[in-house]
Amino acid sequence: MIIETRRLILRPINLDDINEIFEYRSDREVNKYQGWIPATLNDVEAFIGKISKQINEAGTWFQFVIIEKETQKIIGDLGVHFFDSDNKQAEIGCTLNKKFHNKGYATESVKSIIAYLFNELNKHRIITTIDPENINSIRLVERIGFRKEAHFVESLFINGKWVDDLLYAMIEKDWQSLNCDDLYEK
Ligand SMILES: CC(C)(COP(=O)(O)OP(=O)(O)OC[C@H]1O[C@@H](n2cnc3c(N)ncnc32)[C@H](O)[C@@H]1OP(=O)(O)O)[C@@H](O)C(=O)NCCC(=O)NCCS
Repeated sequence: MIIETRRLILRPINLDDINEIFEYRSDREVNKYQGWIPATLNDVEAFIGKISKQINEAGTWFQFVIIEKETQKIIGDLGVHFFDSDNKQAEIGCTLNKKFHNKGYATESVKSIIAYLFNELNKHRIITTIDPENINSIRLVERIGFRKEAHFVESLFINGKWVDDLLYAMIEKDWQSLNCDDLYEK
């Protein structure tokens, strides 16, 4: 499964990606709101080992790496969680190497995945959860058009403390009214 946008390619993660993934995922400062921060290359290998090989399998996470077309470098990753309760909802999460922040790459990748989930996999609703202090992520999802649906108080125990959690969502109807003209090569 390969998704191509104007500046990026998204393809399934594999074991050859370990070093590039470790380079940015091990950054404790950038990833301080994330539940998973690898301490060693082995942690990344174990993480990749647990990822589903098949996209759209209920109850699993599927992981894409995001590649900058111009340099062919892996600049981040994007995970999709396919709910096991039904076949119509998914959760997404995006992480970029900080060298590639502020170029619109996360916006471009997330939009392309949303398009794929709604248009190709016929999903009804996509959610994402965010720490209220994770301002860049909040800006990202609000820019794309996600709706804030809930603020859970101290509902998650992450990196040794209880933290709040925001739930953002988009339904297929919302998506169809958004403009994606800038997403693909003309
Ligand atoms: C969440 C995260 C991916 C967002 O990255 P980001 O760089 O802020 O988002 P984008 O790549 O979409 O870039 C958007 C910014 O680039 C700017 N930009 C520059 N050139 C642009 C272009 N050609 N197109 C669009 N935006 C552009 C935008 O104005 C925007 O800046 P603003 O927020 O000040 O308005 C990043 O902060 C991250 O990896 N965080 C750590 C991991 C994490 O916490 N993930 C969330 C939990 S799943």
